[in-house]
Amino acid sequence: MSTQTSKAIRIDQPGGPEQLKLVDVQVGEPGAGEIRIRHKAVGLNYIDVYQRTGMYPFAMPLQLGMEASGVIEAVGGGVTHLQVGDRAAYASTPPGSYCELRVMPAKCVCKLPDAISFDTGAAMMLKGLTAQYLLRRTQPQGGLQAGDQVLFHAAAGGVGLIACQWAKAMGLQLIGTAGSDEKCALAKSHGAAFAINYAKEDFVARVKEITGGKGVKVVYDSVGKDTFLKSLDCLRPFGLLANFGNASGKVEPLDIGLLAAKGSLYVSRPTLFTHIATRETTQQMADELFAMVSSGKVNIRIDQRFALADVAEAHRSLEARKTTGCTILTL
Ligand SMILES: NC(=O)c1ccc[n+]([C@@H]2O[C@H](COP(=O)([O-])OP(=O)(O)OC[C@H]3O[C@@H](n4cnc5c(N)ncnc54)[C@H](OP(=O)(O)O)[C@@H]3O)[C@@H](O)[C@H]2O)c1
Repeated sequence: MSTQTSKAIRIDQPGGPEQLKLVDVQVGEPGAGEIRIRHKAVGLNYIDVYQRTGMYPFAMPLQLGMEASGVIEAVGGGVTHLQVGDRAAYASTPPGSYCELRVMPAKCVCKLPDAISFDTGAAMMLKGLTAQYLLRRTQPQGGLQAGDQVLFHAAAGGVGLIACQWAKAMGLQLIGTAGSDEKCALAKSHGAAFAINYAKEDFVARVKEITGGKGVKVVYDSVGKDTFLKSLDCLRPFGLLANFGNASGKVEPLDIGLLAAKGSLYVSRPTLFTHIATRETTQQMADELFAMVSSGKVNIRIDQRFALADVAEAHRSLEARKTTGCTILTL
């Protein structure tokens, strides 16, 4: 069996950005249900930080990365939706997208429409499919209708700016939070109806004011520790708190009696990887994302580009809250 050499980013133990090492790895032929893809660009995501620090534990050594775009170079047995030469993009387990070339499961790899560039494809799959499943598949009792108000934390980030635009296209009033006035302006220019600078304003009080005291139907909260309990206070009775991340740290164990006291609330802790568990749901969700991007309703904003070898710098910027929109690693 022939092998090829690829540059890749690997950690040998959990820790800080200094653990990210550029190494050479050997890449072989795809087995059944797998493809080999030559990357054109790689997406950076906050989940990469959780995996690097060990917050989400993995066996070591670990090649990081969950998102990329590229060209299909070889197809294993039983794979019918992809052919050699296809342009493709993915958000997928297992980690390993921080590289030039890899063999991986074909299930979550989707053909990329010609109108969508490789850079956009690499930036949008994990974040765009997340915005899709949150707004379209993580809804309160009775669903979401045009005019409904939702709260979305970290609205100027990668997932956040996509969600602002998608919510607007659904006719929702998205109230975004962000950590600076500049980020708030960015969220508003991408469709947020209101933006709250939660570094200096009390977001619970502002949400009450904006909603005339009623609260919102859903809070989409990826900040976690710092916002979780206050997010519950932003909900109207029967409202839903979808906690989908922990950028500020893990949420403390919850006394579920609080949900009764605050108005028969619902809490969900969703992850993209349950939603993209099958080829069929992955493709359905990706088709919806492709349609939103191709129609111009959602613009994928890439505000930072780093060379693969400079990935440590990319992680430092993301963790220091210095990034907005999406970040890609270039090859
Ligand atoms: N469960 C899922 O399926 C799923 C899928 C994708 C992403 N996510 C989660 O969604 C969130 C957004 O992901 P992303 O890749 O697009 O990242 P991102 O939003 O571009 O970056 C994270 C943002 O979180 C905010 N933040 C608040 N407190 C923070 C803290 N203590 N440290 C660092 N950042 C803090 C910062 O924005 P401000 O400065 O404006 O506060 C920061 O820019 C992440 O938490 C990620 O884990 C979850």
